[in-house]
Amino acid sequence: MTEIVAVSSQSAAAKGAQAANGVGTAPPAPPLRLDKIERRYKEGAGALEVLTGANLTVNKGEMVALVAPSGAGKSTLLHLAGLLERPDGGEVYIGGLSAGKLPERERTRLRRLEIGFVYQFHHLLPEFTAQENIMLPQMLRGLTWAQAAERSMELLRYLKLGERAKHRPAELSGGEQQRVAIARAVANVPKLILADEPTGNLDPKTAHYVFDALSALVRASGLSALIATHNPELAARMDRRITLDDGKVVEM
Ligand SMILES: Nc1ncnc2c1ncn2[C@@H]1O[C@H](COP(=O)(O)OP(=O)(O)OP(=O)(O)O)[C@@H](O)[C@H]1O
Ligand SMILES: [Mg+2]
Repeated sequence: MTEIVAVSSQSAAAKGAQAANGVGTAPPAPPLRLDKIERRYKEGAGALEVLTGANLTVNKGEMVALVAPSGAGKSTLLHLAGLLERPDGGEVYIGGLSAGKLPERERTRLRRLEIGFVYQFHHLLPEFTAQENIMLPQMLRGLTWAQAAERSMELLRYLKLGERAKHRPAELSGGEQQRVAIARAVANVPKLILADEPTGNLDPKTAHYVFDALSALVRASGLSALIATHNPELAARMDRRITLDDGKVVEM
């Protein structure tokens, strides 16, 4: 299993941050740190304050459950952590790098190399096979077709989907689609997995099965994960549970 995750995907910027951090002398920076994050949306004449100074550190190897009522700001927080949006205040640090100070090109690189996303609905490309869907991010990263094909098959076999490699998403069950989406998220060996209700549209048994796959990959690779879920049983299986209260992160 280690070889599945041993490929180094460190960007030059991340290496620079580690050097500045003094690897060998100081502990490495956490994969994710949110510092006093603010996010508001315009609402009529006023503003809807969604995040009002949210602080959060996700340490290496840690799986953190984000459990909060609908509308509390879970997806908003994940989008900001994943550099898909910019906060109105505060700073997002990815592996110690201050994301707000980076040019858009470097943000895109970080997003592509250091972060893997899993959504509630798989967002697989319908015209591509399961294997091809997992290959695409690797080819964007610069791997050859053959390298990407081989690694995708390893991941599919690990997730017991080897037989389904040539199927298109529409020919897979919901749980299978979600496992392919998980394989795609870890394909580039990111340091951080961000998942937004990854089992939200699955029945309870399949949800546990898919979560097993996700946590096995995260654990085997020493990755970190922040996972929004409405499922208390899955939250209980993670290392730490946090919630959002009035726009701030609170430990549960
Ligand atoms: N682009 C936007 N423009 C305006 N308001 C938004 C926008 N995105 C989110 N909101 C509002 O911000 C609040 C937080 O939304 P968010 O999607 O983060 O909640 P959530 O915790 O993920 O909820 P759910 O559990 O239903 O997915 C909600 O009140 C939502 O309506
Ligand atoms: Mg949401």
